[in-house]
Amino acid sequence: MPERPYTLLSCSMSIDGYIAGAAERLLLSNGDDFDRVDAVRASCDAILVGAATVRIDNPRLLVRSERHREQRAARGLPPSPAKVTVTRQARLDAHADFFTAGEAEKLVYCASPRVGDARARLGEVATVVDGGHTVRMRRLSADLAARGVERLMVEGGGNIHTQFLTDDLVDELHLVVAPVFVGYSDAPRFVRDGTFPWNPTRRARLAEVRQIGDVVLMRYALSARFGAG
Ligand SMILES: NC(=O)c1ccc[n+]([C@@H]2O[C@H](COP(=O)([O-])OP(=O)(O)OC[C@H]3O[C@@H](n4cnc5c(N)ncnc54)[C@H](OP(=O)(O)O)[C@@H]3O)[C@@H](O)[C@H]2O)c1
Repeated sequence: MPERPYTLLSCSMSIDGYIAGAAERLLLSNGDDFDRVDAVRASCDAILVGAATVRIDNPRLLVRSERHREQRAARGLPPSPAKVTVTRQARLDAHADFFTAGEAEKLVYCASPRVGDARARLGEVATVVDGGHTVRMRRLSADLAARGVERLMVEGGGNIHTQFLTDDLVDELHLVVAPVFVGYSDAPRFVRDGTFPWNPTRRARLAEVRQIGDVVLMRYALSARFGAG
């Protein structure tokens, strides 16, 4: 068994590189691209987002297409992948859509100091995993693999993307650019500061560019496993 799942990182950004606006939720996709993302979700065993994304976006993270749900059922899988989040503070609402929508398993990796709080708040709606004093994405990935997750989709936000990329845990990157500017330098970006394995002396491999209506998808191969998962 591989030591970590095949990991696909997915992100939509504005032309000026932001993944959200200043205040209200910003649409950085279109209908056809939502369908593409839905198909990618359906192909995965688990979807991971950071706790801030759970709080700010309140995502459901369900497979919407009936056809994809049926195809998963035919393979003996639940309609939607498991949902995974990470937190230090354990400041998550058990009534958030992340926890209430869908039947799939929900996993919360919590830093050890707040595991008790997390279990008190979320124990009824999720499996709370003690992620260690500092939750490391490499160890989290190994734990997911041990739980049978072979294919993981990481959907943000920037804090989580940065850790997966700087720890060299990503096999495939899907970057969508939407035809809008945010124009607000305090808005969240795709990644934060860090030392990334791809840089001017080690360039990432661009595997595909696809126009989807008014957005463009760029697929990057970030590991030797690209395409194998
Ligand atoms: N355009 C897109 O594709 C896209 C996708 C997703 C999200 N977004 C946007 O991204 C923004 C949120 O991004 P973000 O970077 O602020 O936050 P984030 O990555 O969603 O979540 C960060 C939070 O995750 C927890 N966390 C992260 N690393 C951890 C670790 N090693 N150990 C324990 N907990 C850890 C912490 O939660 P606690 O604070 O609970 O301790 C931290 O505050 C939102 O505005 C959202 O709309 C955009």
